[in-house]
Amino acid sequence: MNSDPRPVLLSGIKPTGELHIGNYFGAMRQLVDLSKSDEHDCYIMVADYHALNFIQNAQNMRELSLDLATAYMAVGLDPAHLTIFKQSDVPAHTELAWIFESITTMPYLMRAHAFKDAEAKNHEISVGTFNYPLLMAADILLYDTFVVPVGQDQKQHVEYARDTAEKFNRLFCTGITSRTNSPFNPNEYLKLHEVPKDEVFTVLPIPLIMPEVAIVPGTDGQKMSKSYGNTIPLFASREVITERIMSIVTDSSGERPENVYAIHRLLKSEDELVPLYEEHKGKYKALKDALIADLEEFIAPMRERYLELKNNPDVVIKALHEGAKKANLKAESKMSTVRRAVGVV
Ligand code: ADP
Ligand code: TRP
Repeated sequence: MNSDPRPVLLSGIKPTGELHIGNYFGAMRQLVDLSKSDEHDCYIMVADYHALNFIQNAQNMRELSLDLATAYMAVGLDPAHLTIFKQSDVPAHTELAWIFESITTMPYLMRAHAFKDAEAKNHEISVGTFNYPLLMAADILLYDTFVVPVGQDQKQHVEYARDTAEKFNRLFCTGITSRTNSPFNPNEYLKLHEVPKDEVFTVLPIPLIMPEVAIVPGTDGQKMSKSYGNTIPLFASREVITERIMSIVTDSSGERPENVYAIHRLLKSEDELVPLYEEHKGKYKALKDALIADLEEFIAPMRERYLELKNNPDVVIKALHEGAKKANLKAESKMSTVRRAVGVV
């Protein structure tokens, strides 16, 4: 079944709102670079079932999901060379998540950072949020994924996927390596359904995090996040870029406005920036203007592609449709082994 010999790369983003340059530099850019190298068989997912923990309005869900797929294509992920799909189009994700939920203990899931953060904030979290790491483990393990490019905050989730794969293998792989081909003998029937050792989750995934941009700062110096209102939208117009950069709070005590510099560093090397910041020492307006010009240059081509696709949604819908077909084929092949391993077939 697996005709593509390249290692599988899979990543996903939840369609929960407007994408910002933190999402791009922390997660999307490396997807684009990695997919261009052609070394991996890439699966890029719209994690809509993960988003259901946050987006509980059908119209918003539809729009945000299509918008994320549009954004994937606008930043340079090409459906002709990789698989772009929606998680909910592949029912195997939720099926495998249930199986994982059945073999996972609550104390183990309670150690997840995301759960602990929510608890510390006294949020009344849903069961879906609590089980979030196991749906993500299913996303990853269904495709024999080796590489998972993610932001620093997602590293623990990839470790959960590894642990879950190992636990599943320990529990369900019997170690029998030879199987009979005689379905007519009832005694042989059971043997037919035994799964050879390491037939199920043989590939353990690794997270791939770009260290130099592990966390992209927002306009206030904190982590850029839509929940902090400190973002620069990925497809921002020149007006919005200007407004956001002008709103950066600069600390007048230092010579270099660190919040401006940190964002600028995403676009230019230190060698290019040091002379510029030296030349305009203390002149924050000039430095902000330079950053606005560089951001506009960087964003404009992506923004154009994005607007073009927005006007032609059929192109995106077709890509999702094709992606779902391919993803379902691969996921179903894995599920038939999983179902045999747990004994439901
Ligand atoms: P937000 O914090 O705005 O809600 P999400 O949690 O939806 O962003 O993040 C989607 C992806 O983008 C994740 O892979 C996450 O690791 C990455 N990401 C989000 N914000 C940043 C940031 N400030 N720096 C680096 N990566 C980020
Ligand atoms: N949890 C990821 C995030 O919040 C999104 C995600 C869902 C994902 N499933 C995945 C990322 C599988 C990588 C692989 O950003």
